[in-house]
Amino acid sequence: MHSPIMSIPRGVATALRTTALTAALIGAAGVAAQQASTEPITTPVTIDLSALPVLGAPWREDNPYRGDAQVAEIGRALFNQACARCHGDDGNATHHVGTDLRRLDSYCFAKIKDLAARRHCLRDNDHYFKESVLRGKIRVGVTHMPPWEGVLTQEAVWSLKTFLESRRP
Ligand code: HEC
Repeated sequence: MHSPIMSIPRGVATALRTTALTAALIGAAGVAAQQASTEPITTPVTIDLSALPVLGAPWREDNPYRGDAQVAEIGRALFNQACARCHGDDGNATHHVGTDLRRLDSYCFAKIKDLAARRHCLRDNDHYFKESVLRGKIRVGVTHMPPWEGVLTQEAVWSLKTFLESRRP
């Protein structure tokens, strides 16, 4: 079975911009990046995501899995493999370089009482989350977070968001 996440990490390859490294990445059986430079790059993702309901393209504007406990469990495993080294085990970011992603939606709940407006706030955050994950965080040439485009599928990204939502403080 060819897992959807095993495709060649295009985003990573583009970000690294050297053909030697690109070849090394492709050589690694298309598995997500190996630690091949001093830049923080994506780690291999081997979590089985085949139980996630298929979404395909195009990208949804809202997290389509919101509130799904089974999806959150898969997202948790993926998070701990791919994100925890910077955002902490289970998202507990204390003593880590990355943000506490469990609090991403806090503003929507703390400040917004109107339910329609709150949904809008969550949608806004879903969009920001998706864009952050796909593009990474690269500023003035420094990779604070690697881009995950081409490594993580739409299903994978929303499973991560679903997990983080299940851990809201
Ligand atoms: C190499 C370390 C590293 C890894 C791995 C990493 N991140 Fe990040 N991430 C960061 C850092 C550092 C920031 C803050 C960057 C900044 O804004 O300057 C960040 C920011 C973010 C943001 C924006 C948060 C905000 O409040 O603005 C999101 C969303 C995010 N990461 C999600 C993820 C997810 C999901 C994963 C796993 C697929 C992941 N990250 C893996 C380091 C990492």
